[in-house]
Amino acid sequence: MSLKKVHDNQPKDFTFSNENLKKAEEILKRYPKKNKKSAVMPFLYLAQKQNDNWIPLAAMKYIANYLSMPYISVYEVATFYTMYNLAPVGRHFIQVCTTTPCLIRGADKIVQLCKEKIASKENEISKNGSCSWMEVECLGACVSAPMIQINDDYYEDLDEKSTKEILDSLIKDKPLKPGSYRGRKNTSPEKKKLINGENHA
Ligand code: FES
Repeated sequence: MSLKKVHDNQPKDFTFSNENLKKAEEILKRYPKKNKKSAVMPFLYLAQKQNDNWIPLAAMKYIANYLSMPYISVYEVATFYTMYNLAPVGRHFIQVCTTTPCLIRGADKIVQLCKEKIASKENEISKNGSCSWMEVECLGACVSAPMIQINDDYYEDLDEKSTKEILDSLIKDKPLKPGSYRGRKNTSPEKKKLINGENHA
């Protein structure tokens, strides 16, 4: 997995929108006043949503100021978690899980398809400007391996054919539906087969 790159062209300023200021105040109510810095993660998430899915350094400084905590502490949190993007990503942002369960079920082929169809390197925006991809650690859906996350949705039980279809549609700005691509409902067995008169998954 590559290290996170901080974007070269940084905006000078950042402030929460009025809507996000209201959300921020709601978030702060979850924590004791003396521990308001505990809100750093949801605040970073708000900043990312507001700024086209990536967090500029100015937003980290703004949040540090808002929560009365050192800027470096906000920076440490933002650079530690893969859920925070520190440089622009595609409008359709694909995260490919390459941890062991997904890898032994074919995640390397999904990575290869992303290289062919989106961009040869992770974190690069596709030529048409709509997509980017990156490898990430386990996304907690190992039971549906291999899987990818596109923006907020999970696409599970993938193979080369389904991944190709998903990526081809995405490039055309027509995302396919999320969920299992083996027709499973949540994590239930695919279908039951009758063997010697007994039900088997
Ligand atoms: S290993 Fe891929 S979701 Fe857990």
